[in-house]
Amino acid sequence: LHRVDRRQRQMCIRDRLQIALDNLSSDQAISDAKKAEKYLDVIEVGTILLASEGKNAIIKLKEAFPNKIIVADGKIADAGSVFGKMFFESGADYTTVICAAETSTLKQTIEIGKKIGNKDVQVEMTSHFTWEQVNEWKEAGLNQVVWHRSRDAQKDGAKWDDKNIQTVKRLAEMGFKVTVTGGVEKDDIKLFKGIPIYIFIAGRTIRDAQNPELAAKELKDEISKYWN
Ligand code: 5RP
Repeated sequence: LHRVDRRQRQMCIRDRLQIALDNLSSDQAISDAKKAEKYLDVIEVGTILLASEGKNAIIKLKEAFPNKIIVADGKIADAGSVFGKMFFESGADYTTVICAAETSTLKQTIEIGKKIGNKDVQVEMTSHFTWEQVNEWKEAGLNQVVWHRSRDAQKDGAKWDDKNIQTVKRLAEMGFKVTVTGGVEKDDIKLFKGIPIYIFIAGRTIRDAQNPELAAKELKDEISKYWN
């Protein structure tokens, strides 16, 4: 825990590449992440892996990567304190609450994170949200949001258009630490230039690459071009 604390304090944007492990097994997830480990700072137990193996996936990923920040992408929609406790006690440093959840769910997840100690919550946002909700989240003490171009919306043709970029910008201006995800590729990084992005997440771009280590390196090099 202390090692992770120190790492969180020292992190700057160049140290914030997250791999999304939406695998069906933790063995495959560990093997995929090991290939690019050198360039990874944050390890995400993806929603798909969580559905496949439950909290055991978090325990195994934490064991395999004790020095990395672990995110359980639970997309919690209700029972925030139950899921939060389960994910945090299994080794997650952050977990996600979906933007469709009641603000009460967010509050209870934040609360359990504080009670367990040093755990943080991210609201995972798709385009289905209102700015009124965002204000409520702020009042509830939320620090982090994840802007997610949904995998299914991508299949239907969703791009990183100006609306996406302006939303991310506005969220950052409100003081949130904003993470960007959803089919992020190297050439997408520059679209966010000038916005203080907290973390970039890439899943398939790294996992499906012929050379995952090179793919992760290229993402980090690209981040370093625009943020220092
Ligand atoms: C799916 C997710 C993924 O973790 C996220 O989209 C990142 O993965 P990829 O880069 O493969 O899109 O939240 O629900």
